[in-house]
Amino acid sequence: NDDARATIGLTGLATMGRNLARNIARNGHTIAVHNRTTSKMTALIDEFGDEGDFVGCESLEDLVAAVERPRAIVIMVKAGEATDAVVDELVPLLDEGDIVVDAGNAHYRDTLRRQEALEEKGLHFVGMGVSGGEEGALNGPSIMVGGSDHAYEVLQPVVESIAADVDGTPCCAHIGHDGAGHFVKMVHNGIEYADMQLIAESYDLLRSVAGMTPAEVADVFEEWNGGDLESFLIEMTADVLRHTDAETGEPFVDVVRDAAEQKGTGRWTVQDALDLGVPITGIAEATFARSLSGHTEQRAAAREMFSTTPEEVDVDRDSFVDQVRAALYASKVVAYAQGFDQIAAGAEERGWDIDLGEVATIWRGGCIIRAQFLDRIREAYADEPDLTTLLTTPYFAEAVTDGVDAWREVIVAAVRGGVPTPAFSSSLAYFDGLRRDRLPAALIQALRDDFGAHTYERVDREGTFHTRWAEEG
Ligand code: ATR
Repeated sequence: NDDARATIGLTGLATMGRNLARNIARNGHTIAVHNRTTSKMTALIDEFGDEGDFVGCESLEDLVAAVERPRAIVIMVKAGEATDAVVDELVPLLDEGDIVVDAGNAHYRDTLRRQEALEEKGLHFVGMGVSGGEEGALNGPSIMVGGSDHAYEVLQPVVESIAADVDGTPCCAHIGHDGAGHFVKMVHNGIEYADMQLIAESYDLLRSVAGMTPAEVADVFEEWNGGDLESFLIEMTADVLRHTDAETGEPFVDVVRDAAEQKGTGRWTVQDALDLGVPITGIAEATFARSLSGHTEQRAAAREMFSTTPEEVDVDRDSFVDQVRAALYASKVVAYAQGFDQIAAGAEERGWDIDLGEVATIWRGGCIIRAQFLDRIREAYADEPDLTTLLTTPYFAEAVTDGVDAWREVIVAAVRGGVPTPAFSSSLAYFDGLRRDRLPAALIQALRDDFGAHTYERVDREGTFHTRWAEEG
């Protein structure tokens, strides 16, 4: 088709799709754009047509016809049934070697299923995780691509030019085949849940135990952002805590209903970790904490029944701030170590060749969890690609060792003061569990052998043993 002059096509022009399309156009690529409801397409071109070379298409047929072969068509619609509907409509219009890219927040299992179906038809299906929200989509997200080598070769110039850039390195990578990109994006979101929960617990402690105002806590976060904790979320926390509600003049955080919602990627991460047998306690507790916050009736009932306030905890404000910082950092190290464990285990299970150092590298910019800290993780994997756990690498080991006393103190204060810190506490329990000489798992094995003849191993001899409990008494 002689009219085919676009490098890439994109269908689905809601906020994310529209921003991604503008980002692609602004970087000099001709892009064909389409939306089921045509008005969104015309609105994009009316408002932003001068930002680059857009080809407006009123049908999927027009969209396909507008793109150079091998065609790359990006789908950015509501995840789930809508994606399947668009894929089904698109497939008969394509030719062998063409590439369908799902840039939505799909579950990696759906991506695996779609990839298999398209491969049978000689097409390439790419699951592309895009992180960074609306702003990232427009100005440079972190992009995790899962798909064939051929597909990545075709997409690479566009993807590299639209991704965030850190020190000259674009925040995008070919993570692996089929579902690998969406899998890594899922764990990224899980880590984001843990990061936010740890921040929320820190804020609660500073306010409830140290008696600080939101504005004072904002100052603390701003200061923390100048050190090891420097990150987008810490910076944003300072902004949010300083914000006052225009209507009431109250701290903004006090007028927001305290029930956290979720779109499901945290839950997916935890479900997947259970299947893999990887303890991602930080992410799991963060996900459950959101659930708990939403159980309004149970909370009201419990508040009424157990209204007595626990004792006032007396802390020195300045030293407590330092202790909370150390606890936050150590817990964050644990949450990331767990998330990277899950990526390694998922890669092993599904045959993806995922470079963990590269994952850390492309999360340094563009995405919600972008942080200075990720450079440390990148370095750790550069030094030792087959790392057993991030926790024991020199830099992180030092942070945890230096911080562990403070970490314990903070949790003691939280427990005494009745301030829930599920992510702090479970991260410390995970650390103590790993470093413990002997675990009570020995007792669990003995019990299992007693009631179910499940057998056990011994510390002093090779082999598998069963004790005749009834006879031996
Ligand atoms: P939002 O992101 O604003 O919440 P959404 O309902 O998630 O919106 O839909 C996002 C995009 O998916 C929109 O471009 C939407 O197309 P319309 O503008 O025509 O609503 C698109 N979309 C949703 N379901 C679709 C389907 N079955 N087929 C094609 N596009 C669909």
